[in-house]
Amino acid sequence: MAFVTRQFVRSMSSAAAKKIVIKHVTVLGGGLMGSGIAQVAATSGHTVVLVDQTDEILAKSKKSIEESLKKVAKKKFAEDPKAGASFVEKTLSSITTSTDAASVVHSSDLVVEAIVENLQVKNELFQRLDKFAAEHTIFASNTSSLQITSMANATTRQDRFAGLHFFNPVPMMKLVEIIKTPMTSQKTFESLVDFTKAIGKHPVSCKDTPGFIVNRLLVPYLMEAIRLYERGDASKEDIDIAMKLGAGYPMGPFELLDYVGLDTTKFIIDGWHEMDSKNPLFQPSQSMNKLVAEKKFGKKTGEGYYKYK
Ligand code: CAA
Ligand code: NAD
Repeated sequence: MAFVTRQFVRSMSSAAAKKIVIKHVTVLGGGLMGSGIAQVAATSGHTVVLVDQTDEILAKSKKSIEESLKKVAKKKFAEDPKAGASFVEKTLSSITTSTDAASVVHSSDLVVEAIVENLQVKNELFQRLDKFAAEHTIFASNTSSLQITSMANATTRQDRFAGLHFFNPVPMMKLVEIIKTPMTSQKTFESLVDFTKAIGKHPVSCKDTPGFIVNRLLVPYLMEAIRLYERGDASKEDIDIAMKLGAGYPMGPFELLDYVGLDTTKFIIDGWHEMDSKNPLFQPSQSMNKLVAEKKFGKKTGEGYYKYK
């Protein structure tokens, strides 16, 4: 229990002892993940404020949410397009946007962070917002690979802080990993389990370890696929086909790398390499570094290992 500091024991709030019903959610970051998280929270009856750095980014986020909702509506209301259109409209109306997180978090039960995969940037944001949020508010990070405990320690609400890790594309992927640090209260954990179920997802839990469950297994696999390609053992197209037809994966590793974002994957692997530079699974990749340097981040920028229209 080395992480449990005296400061934490002093800060253990009475709010942490109560399970809360999450109704109002702030999502920080309106990129691939934040947009999806805002969408699924709004779809299940929560009011959502989506925060990003500029109104232009937020307009793009809203557009992508609308497109995704239309896909959902097409299936859910196949027989009744009018009901589908009103579902899209009602869900969108539950999502407001803001470029000023400090002015919106006070009325939230849950703040989910989905900004860039950089510990310092995340810590700074959490530290700042801690002063503006209500006492009962739970803070959660959607980080792919960083330590939740470190983020919790940037705040005074370590007992109301956890990892809430969604998967891309959020509207389709059923899993959420809930990460309990040694300081997360049981009631906070239970509140997040209830929230996860309320948004129609399946929760699993994992200790605060690098990559939790899915990414600890998935990211080394993706990096191993890149190494296979970089050695010239097989083409990226054949590797993708092989894993789809031979292992039943919905996407090949290069399709998935482009889908996740090469910038995000590079942040993950660079962080782990820094932590354990001798681990052969955590070695950086030349081809990925080159693509990221050229701002070819994958599907979201139109080019990564593949080109997109
Ligand atoms: N919103 C709503 N609906 C969507 C959607 C979205 N964003 N994306 C896809 N769909 C729907 C489509 O409309 C389509 O619906 P129909 O069946 O009615 O036609 C259905 O999903 C299937 O889509 P597609 O036919 O376009 O393609 P697909 O069959 O390949 O499915 C996929 C798409 C669900 C993304 C699938 O390819 C898949 O599961 N890929 C793997 C994704 C994955 O591994 N994600 C985890 C990444 S790792 C991570 O997220 C963690 C991290 O920290 C990095
Ligand atoms: P993204 O690049 O698509 O979006 C990040 C967004 O955060 C951008 O719109 C950016 O403008 C915004 N942002 C940056 N700093 C901000 C700040 N201080 N305040 C408000 N907004 C800010 O990234 P993403 O793929 O959505 O990933 C976000 C987080 O989710 C990362 O921690 C990532 O590791 C994690 N994650 C990603 C995936 C994935 O498949 N891409 C899956 C699960 C988890």
